[in-house]
Amino acid sequence: MTMDKRTFDAVIIGGGGAGLRAALQLAESGIKVAVVSKVYPTRSHTVSAQGGIAASLGNVSADNWHWHMYDTVKGSDYLGDQDAIEFMCRNANEAVIELERYGMPFDRLDNGKIYQRPFGGMTQEYGGPPAVRTCSVADRTGHAMLHTLYQRNIAARTHFFEEYFAIDLVMDEQGHALGVVALGIESGEPVLIEARATLLATGGAGRIFSATTNALINTGDGLGMALRAGIPLEDMEFWQFHPTGIHGAGVLVTEGVRGEGGYLVNKHGERFMERYAPNAKDLASRDVVSRAMAVEIFEGRGCGEQGDHVLLKLDHLGPEVIHQRLPGISELAKKFAHVDPAKDPIPVVPTVHYMMGGIPTDLHGRVVKPSADGTQTAVPGLYAIGECACVSVHGANRLGSNSLLDLIVFGRAAGNDVIAYCRENPSARTVPSASLERISARMARWERKGEGITVAQLRDEMRKTMLAHCGVFRTEAVLQEGVRKMQEIAAKLPDVVLRDHSKVFNTGRIEALELENLVAVALATMISAAARKESRGAHARDDFPERNDAEWMKHSLYFADGHRLDYKPVRQQPLTVDAFQPKPRVY
Ligand code: FUM
Repeated sequence: MTMDKRTFDAVIIGGGGAGLRAALQLAESGIKVAVVSKVYPTRSHTVSAQGGIAASLGNVSADNWHWHMYDTVKGSDYLGDQDAIEFMCRNANEAVIELERYGMPFDRLDNGKIYQRPFGGMTQEYGGPPAVRTCSVADRTGHAMLHTLYQRNIAARTHFFEEYFAIDLVMDEQGHALGVVALGIESGEPVLIEARATLLATGGAGRIFSATTNALINTGDGLGMALRAGIPLEDMEFWQFHPTGIHGAGVLVTEGVRGEGGYLVNKHGERFMERYAPNAKDLASRDVVSRAMAVEIFEGRGCGEQGDHVLLKLDHLGPEVIHQRLPGISELAKKFAHVDPAKDPIPVVPTVHYMMGGIPTDLHGRVVKPSADGTQTAVPGLYAIGECACVSVHGANRLGSNSLLDLIVFGRAAGNDVIAYCRENPSARTVPSASLERISARMARWERKGEGITVAQLRDEMRKTMLAHCGVFRTEAVLQEGVRKMQEIAAKLPDVVLRDHSKVFNTGRIEALELENLVAVALATMISAAARKESRGAHARDDFPERNDAEWMKHSLYFADGHRLDYKPVRQQPLTVDAFQPKPRVY
């Protein structure tokens, strides 16, 4: 197969917040950088982080990064690496101020400072009263961030491959990453994008589940590429269910609604979170709120004819607050739930939102993998940032508004490391033909047309299986059955065919390539979840209801080769302060 070739110093796969922030760091320092994005970059899924970005600016309540760090460690159920968490929280204020200087239109207080709102699990004084820490642009913070960073990248002359689908990493035999092969979605033509450094910033994979707040594009492409390159995935059992997805639609209603004073009620009109989290109530961390909702529904206190959701009430906030602070939510509720939230509550259910696990990295975004002697070594020239990466700042449960922060802090850190890497490695290495032949063969498989199981059929089967067997509450029997079903689904992949009409804009071929990534991520999730015999953060097991630090204070590593699992220790030592010791997690 013939391929055009383009050469850059660095290539970034993914045009969301993390990819754009890293690209900016590179382009502004004179590095020749390309961003490959399967959608127009401002349509990336960062848009779904509606409610804001956390930083201990202290504009509304007293605050400092130590308290933010404590909340993040506790929120992670002590699985987060404390050096990375310190790094993120300590750099948060600078990251937000930098965005403001780039032109991000943050909401303002009357005194002109950046507006902040409360978010779940964020406290003052190490677990005391709520901290008002989340900086927002109404309920469109991610959207504003994407536009700000994209415009800045255009000015800095970042090259964009818009609507290009990244098929696979190009690696040499010594394990160096040398770029990527991508497919022009409109043309169907592949292009080899050679680079000395390759950054994966492909976001999450929520589309492995049948109900998710994630966009259609969240198909785990970076994770699939990493697995095929022999890199393991870390902590894939931990998936966040956001408490407030619109019932029946999956569309996100920001936690900012509860930050502004909205609350959840059951069919009796009871504000039930008071029973589950007496202090934080509706602003407990997401895993706690989602479990409480699931229990209410399971025990017969759900709302509606089927009793299968609860209600999010915000009419008492008044039209002015809704109009000024939550205009997007108002629109979404009208369109997807057919209610005007200024008058009626929104029907909501816990909905898959965020992947805490991902491609293992160090603090500089360098992808690391275990060596034979038990240590971690960096894969030369390969980086991962944002949701597809696991650094790990979110551990077993992420706090809302820490995701935008993660993108910006580690996008910038990785950018800085790539600058140094490119200086130390001035010459390009030779791309081995075997690597390109392997990728061409993968593409050629999806020329197949005819009768058989379709991409959509297998994808549906996978999504339903994942939701039924890897939901909010899990048990051994349900998980083992899930592993068996997922292995059967994976075994059907070679039988999948494309329909004739699917050549239009190459969407059929792209969806088939995405399906391979989705199935790989779903298997990693199910196998990792079945293996972890404790409850921690978002991984809640009915049969092992307690956290078990003695045996399970460790990160899981899943390898596609043989579906193996390995484990590595949690980095409990922060960079400059004392460690936070694990204790029972109550809100
Ligand atoms: O609820 C939200 O606005 C989502 C934010 C996040 O996931 O960080």
